[in-house]
Amino acid sequence: MGCALSGSGITLGKSISEAKRCPSLDGGLELKAESGEEKIAAQPFPLLEPQKELIQESWKILHDDIARVGIIVFIRLFETHPECKDVFFLFRDIDDLQQLKMSKDLQSHGLRVMSFIEKSVARLDQEDKLEQLAFELGRSHCRYNAPPKYYEYVGTQFIGAVQPILKEKWTPEVEKAWETLFKYVTDTMKRGFYEEEKKSKVNQALYSRKAGAAQNSI
Ligand code: HEM
Repeated sequence: MGCALSGSGITLGKSISEAKRCPSLDGGLELKAESGEEKIAAQPFPLLEPQKELIQESWKILHDDIARVGIIVFIRLFETHPECKDVFFLFRDIDDLQQLKMSKDLQSHGLRVMSFIEKSVARLDQEDKLEQLAFELGRSHCRYNAPPKYYEYVGTQFIGAVQPILKEKWTPEVEKAWETLFKYVTDTMKRGFYEEEKKSKVNQALYSRKAGAAQNSI
């Protein structure tokens, strides 16, 4: 207690040490959580060993197609949720999705996202590292102003895009394993997002208070 944020209804991540730290503010500033904030508790790593193996095996097959999958995922995201496109400086002014499909920027963005998934798959046995990776990604998405409510759609589109590539290797068990991984990653990203959002509010509040004090002393 004694923290200006205690009682704000914000659930902090449990195993990320930075998320546990409570910013100490002399004088106690009142900060409220964003209205859209969900309470997401840190969860134990949810994947069982056989599920990890299913993901690793299917990734080996998908690996050669990741550039294509990355593009499909984002084109479908923009088709189903056009408001997501506005978050991207590079894409917001391109209305024609066929033109966007050909864009080198979309290709390289899709590849960056796929390479994050590749890193996640490589860290299925290093849970702390995977958690840290997804948490930091959530923090950077706060700086990109990318709202958490859309993160899970990326998983949905990924699953839709890889299903036809895996053909008969796609089973309900494989689907469940990927869904579980995406749920874990996106929940962890959301915690990172809210942590970063809270930090920036604390900084803004401190800045305003200092600016006010400086004004009063003139
Ligand atoms: C599972 C969900 C998602 C994953 C894994 C993901 C992953 C990534 C990765 C790896 C990057 C590269 C930069 C970095 O590492 O910080 C990135 C950048 C970015 N993402 Fe996401 N992302 C997701 C969802 C979203 C959604 C839903 C939006 C928009 C509503 C979004 C908006 C952005 C923006 C604006 C950037 C910066 C682009 C730039 O560099 O110009 N992301 N994302």
